[in-house]
Amino acid sequence: MFDLRERTALMTGGARGLGLAMAHALGAHGARIMLLDRDEATLSVAAAELRAAGIEARTSIGDVTVPADTVRAVDAMRTAWGRVDVCVCNAGVARNAHAHEMTLDEWNAIISVNLTGVFFTAQACARPMIEQRSGSIVMIASMSGKIVNVPQPQAAYNISKAGVIMAAKSLAVEWAPHGIRVNAIAPGYMRTEMTAPFIADPALGGVWMDLTPMRRPGEPAELGGAVVYLASDASSFVTGHTLVVDGGYVVR
Ligand SMILES: NC(=O)c1ccc[n+]([C@@H]2O[C@H](COP(=O)([O-])OP(=O)(O)OC[C@H]3O[C@@H](n4cnc5c(N)ncnc54)[C@H](O)[C@@H]3O)[C@@H](O)[C@H]2O)c1
Repeated sequence: MFDLRERTALMTGGARGLGLAMAHALGAHGARIMLLDRDEATLSVAAAELRAAGIEARTSIGDVTVPADTVRAVDAMRTAWGRVDVCVCNAGVARNAHAHEMTLDEWNAIISVNLTGVFFTAQACARPMIEQRSGSIVMIASMSGKIVNVPQPQAAYNISKAGVIMAAKSLAVEWAPHGIRVNAIAPGYMRTEMTAPFIADPALGGVWMDLTPMRRPGEPAELGGAVVYLASDASSFVTGHTLVVDGGYVVR
């Protein structure tokens, strides 16, 4: 039931971090992977890494804030493989800023990637999925869509991720008649390039780990089970759900 052979998967922000780790997990279960990322150099290294692991991987350079870029990646999947089965809307950015000082440009820099980019990636995938009458869309939200992290000020990020959780619910309802499931994953603090410097800082990482019942950050590979579950038939009656993977942070 976790078998992804014959399935194809789009992974945005797949050049590194959680996106690359999830691509490994999907590929290990048989999926063919299209990595989309705006970082061209890292993207080709990531694809080579997947191929070395025996995974069929292609790349598409693009920015998720430009809907035509995600449409181009989806079209390339249809040309190469004839179908789009799994769509992981993972690309995201985090920046800390005090709400009372935030400029419109700072706000848009977060919302355009984390929320607008997720919505239009899902839309690009849904169009062929509606024709196929099947598909699984997985949106990478965050525990920050459910709780307010401390001590850093990150209102725009939190608001964007709460929007992703509602996007998964809204699109799950709207696209259920088309055979498309839409779910979200809400990771807690995971050790990636995005967070590593902060985790190493006792004033920040120390507080974060004190608030995490398991007292450690997650490793990127620990999202593998969640994404394979939501992408595969193992979750065939699950839609509109947000799966929290956070070492217990949100339950305290
Ligand atoms: N690391 C964590 O602790 C954590 C926790 C919760 C949620 N998340 C979410 O998981 C996702 C991945 O995070 P990560 O830690 O791997 O980050 P990361 O910064 O290590 O990797 C993000 C990748 O996305 C790409 N990207 C960024 N903006 C893009 C855009 N506009 N178009 C295309 N590609 C773009 C980057 O080039 C990079 O390769 C993000 O949505 C993030 O908000 C991360």
